[in-house]
This record gives sequence, C-alpha cells and structure tokens, in this order.
Amino acid sequence: MLLLLPTETYRAADFLDAARALGADVVVGSNRRFAIAPAMQDGPVLVDFEVPEAGAEAIVAYSEQAPLDAVVATDDQGVLMATLAAERLGLPHNPLGAAEATRDKAALRRALEAGAIPQPRYRRAESGADVAALCAEVGYPVVVKPVSLSASRGVIRADDAESAVLAAKRARSICEKTGAGSGAPLLIESYVPGKEVAVEGMLRGGDLEILALFDKPDPLEGPFFEETIYVTPSRLADATQGAIKEVTNRAIAAIGLTEGPVHAELRVDDGDVWMLEIAARSIGGLCSRSLRFGFGATLEELILRHALGLPLRERGREWAASGVMMIPITAAGVLLRVGGQEAARAVPGIAGLDITIGRGRPVTPLPEGDRYLGFLFARRESPEEVEGALRTAHGLLQIEIDGAPK
Ligand SMILES: Nc1ncnc2c1ncn2[C@@H]1O[C@H](COP(=O)(O)OP(=O)(O)O)[C@@H](O)[C@H]1O
Ligand SMILES: [Mg+2]
Repeated sequence: MLLLLPTETYRAADFLDAARALGADVVVGSNRRFAIAPAMQDGPVLVDFEVPEAGAEAIVAYSEQAPLDAVVATDDQGVLMATLAAERLGLPHNPLGAAEATRDKAALRRALEAGAIPQPRYRRAESGADVAALCAEVGYPVVVKPVSLSASRGVIRADDAESAVLAAKRARSICEKTGAGSGAPLLIESYVPGKEVAVEGMLRGGDLEILALFDKPDPLEGPFFEETIYVTPSRLADATQGAIKEVTNRAIAAIGLTEGPVHAELRVDDGDVWMLEIAARSIGGLCSRSLRFGFGATLEELILRHALGLPLRERGREWAASGVMMIPITAAGVLLRVGGQEAARAVPGIAGLDITIGRGRPVTPLPEGDRYLGFLFARRESPEEVEGALRTAHGLLQIEIDGAPK
C-alpha cells in the first residue's frame, strides 16, 4: 500500500505501526524524504500536495513497477491525490466531486444545501468583496473562515460589522502566510450556538458505520475556536444522538461520499442538529489514540483494513469511556519547558501525555497557529471521570512560554 504522509502530519507513526501490524508492505508518498522505517526498502514517492493530479500520476507510475493494492491519505492534504490515484488504479474510492467538496468549505456548503441539510446560512466572500454587506445578509453573529484551511486556523467569530471586517483581514493574511494566497476566498457563516460533537465513522460501499461519537465539553464560543477536550461515549440523550447520526448520514449522501473514514463536526442547539463540516479522513492530531476497537485494533488498523478490502473484525469499542485533550497554545513565543508532566501522568485515569513541540521551538496561538502543544489521553469508567482526569492533569502542567509562566 501507499501511504500519503504530508511532512506536517501527526499520524506517520500510528499509520506505519498499523501497516506493520497487518503485515502490509508500505511505500510512503510525501512532499519530502521522510525518515523511513527500516522495513521499507522502497520510496518514498515524492509528491507535491498542491498538485494532486501530478502526484496521482507519480503514484500510478510507481504502481506499474510495484503494484499497489491501496492508496491511503492520512490527512486532508492527500485526499484528492489518493482519490485520483485510486480511480486510475481501479481501487475503491470516493467520487472525485465528493472528495473535492470536503476540501473547499464553500463547495461543501453548496452540496449540503442541495441535500437540504441543516447548516449555517453562508456567503462566499471573494477578495475585494464587501464583507460588511455579506455579513448583514447572513446576520450576526457571524463566523469568518478561509475556505481551504483546517484545525480552526483563521476561523474567527465577529458580532458586528467592524469586527467582521477586521476578522476578514486577519483571515486573509493567514491565507497569505499559508500559501493559499491573500486573494483566497473566505466563507462567512451565521454563528450556530450550542454544544459541539464530533462523529468518527467509516464508509464502505456507501454504508456508514459510526465508530465513535465525541462530546466536546468545553464551550466553543469564539472569537477563536481552540479545540480542547473530546470525550466518548457522548452524554447527550439517546434521541439527540440518533438525530446526530441521521443528519450525518444524510449529509454524507448529499456530498456523495462512499468509501473510507469520515470525520464530522455538528452542533446541537435546543434539540436541533446542525452540520458544521465533514472531512474524508479520520480524526486529526494524535486524537485517534483515544480509541481502541475489538482485539485492540487501532483506528488506523481499521482504516488500512478497509483500504485493503480485508474483513473488519469485531469493532466494539474496548474502553468504557475515553478521551483526549488537545493541549492549547496560550501565548506566542518560544516554548521554554512543560513542567509537571510526571504529576499529570500520575493522575488516575490518565493513559498518556505527548508534548509534541520541542523545547526552544516557537509557538503560535490561534487563529494563526496550526500546531497543538501536545495531547493528554484518559480512560475511565465514565465520561465524567475522563473529563475530570483530563482537566486535573492539564491543571498540573506548567507551560512556560518565553519565560512567562502559564
Ligand atoms: N458557523 C459556525 N457556528 C458556530 N461555530 C462555528 C461555525 N463555524 C465554525 N465554528 C467553530 O469553529 C471550529 C472550526 O471551524 P471549521 O469550519 O470546522 O473549520 P476547520 O476546518 O478549521 O476545523 C468548529 O469546530 C466550531 O467550533
Ligand atoms: Mg472542523
């Protein structure tokens, strides 16, 4: 199989471990020479994630030498390339238009609108557009966001015209820094209040299997939307969970996704369910480590099994309740140290702590930043205990940035 691993991915180790567990031969497709595990003789296949067609051609050319049974994108960046390559190689894949819709927030809104899926009102703002006029059409509060970024980068809430214009400027300058270009279009949406959840699912021949439903118990009210705690199983009422699953299913059908992992984010307000977004990939960062399925299988193993057409074994979740905290970056500067790690690890229920930014490295908070400080993992009997363990452990960390204690 070929794994498309962008340089910035958090997922390399987990996907390579999963491939090893399955005994699969792996070649990496990446935008630079990855440190390759010794078991891998071949590759990498060098690709440019900005040019999916050319990357797909390189993959097809590679497959003529060493036939590929699967092409898997670990992250959003590789989704189009993997889809194009799978199409040419005759492997199961999402329709190209469906994959494309997940890579452009405005296209996604249009597809959801065509399927009458409940979602925010929206307008696409081209460069030079009258932002205040578009916001007035949408109605305040609004959320301004780049159409092509992720991890809440450049996503900003604004409650009036003045702050909306500033938010659009800021989002555009973030686009410029990321290479999306200062002329990149923005999306302006009505702000949907309520509780947020994430759905982790797997599609096979158009059938969705829900693997986990996560609550996000921290309020996400803006102006920036820093993700922190995810806990599963959800504590929402059964009827609400049913409505979330139903909207997710309908949204997937509206977009036309049929194969592989999906990660959806929705909001629940007063019993009404709203679709925020769906991606054709699994949960980001190191968050998948908060899940374990039957026989100890990781989410990455399920994804690779699906891609190889191998039977999926028993998939009941192995832990009663589990969760992850994406440790936020609270200030811009240089990371001096993260103290209290031992104490945090010793909190009952804490199953792991990974600090993913090295000492002495620069850190940038949202909306400009795109990295997490690290990840805390917890497993306990109940979601309440998981959330409590994560909060206690986080409270014990002393995060020192630029000499200023937390
Ligand atoms: N229309 C909206 N209403 C309320 N919150 C929103 C809205 N759009 C985005 N958000 C918040 O911002 C977060 C990131 O936005 P999202 O559209 O998912 O972009 P990204 O690709 O960066 O994840 C969401 O998870 C949610 O918390
Ligand atoms: Mg999102």
